[in-house]
Amino acid sequence: MTRFTEKTAFLTGVASGVGRSTAIRLASEGASIFGVDIDEGGMAETRATVTEMGGSMAARTVDVADIDQIQAAVAACVSALGGIDVVGNIAGIAKQHHLADVSEADWDLMNAINLKGPFFIAQATMPHLVERSGALINIASNAGLMGQAYTVPYCATKGGIVNLTRALAMEFVTTGVRVNAIAPGGIDTPLVHNFELAEDIDFNLMQNHIGYRSPSSPDQIAAFFAFLASDEASNIHGSILSADGGLTAA
Ligand SMILES: NC(=O)c1ccc[n+]([C@@H]2O[C@H](COP(=O)([O-])OP(=O)(O)OC[C@H]3O[C@@H](n4cnc5c(N)ncnc54)[C@H](O)[C@@H]3O)[C@@H](O)[C@H]2O)c1
Repeated sequence: MTRFTEKTAFLTGVASGVGRSTAIRLASEGASIFGVDIDEGGMAETRATVTEMGGSMAARTVDVADIDQIQAAVAACVSALGGIDVVGNIAGIAKQHHLADVSEADWDLMNAINLKGPFFIAQATMPHLVERSGALINIASNAGLMGQAYTVPYCATKGGIVNLTRALAMEFVTTGVRVNAIAPGGIDTPLVHNFELAEDIDFNLMQNHIGYRSPSSPDQIAAFFAFLASDEASNIHGSILSADGGLTAA
């Protein structure tokens, strides 16, 4: 498939997991990728894979919590690639803690990366997306659609992403831009592998967000992303689309 021939994609979180798989998937279908992440080494590995496949990827070290870095990266992307057809807000962090243990620094960091970054990336890229009737896709989570114990700040940011998506969709409903979110359940990525459980947690309270099926692979989420970013999804706008093995069906 070559759904992204002559198209460009600005993607965050490309050093690992879903972001890496999405960069590789879109590049394999012809897109020129402009990838950003704070992890320079991980990005270099992603870029090497894309290049070996014969694809095109630029990589830039960016902290998505920093508005100046976001604006400079978007300007560099437009200057290098001529415009933006697809934006993926994929970078994110997760942490488990009891409510009482959440510090102001924990709250601020979670919000800065998971919610403030996507907002300012949307703000900086939207004029370019409008120009090309492009697609913006936010990675939310089942945690934005249901209450999860011991991850209150994470749930708050992902709930924020859900309604950020809908509000953007309404503000730009009269343009050709499409704004959607994917809400995955568990995905087999370093975010989960490195997840530290808080002490003394009641596992019964976690049952509703563990689910019954195996976690998704990052490639499965990337395949869904590619569909949603492509012209095949031309009537999908303002939607929060679950990819969670039935987790939120109950
Ligand atoms: N893994 C899961 O089970 C799961 C489930 C639902 C939603 N999600 C969401 O999927 C998205 C991708 O997560 P993943 O599972 O691929 O995790 P991951 O840890 O493999 O990848 C996250 C990437 O974000 C980057 N990142 C972190 N902070 C950053 C910052 N300040 N600036 C720029 N880049 C930064 C990391 O370096 C990393 O490359 C996240 O938004 C996450 O919340 C993950």
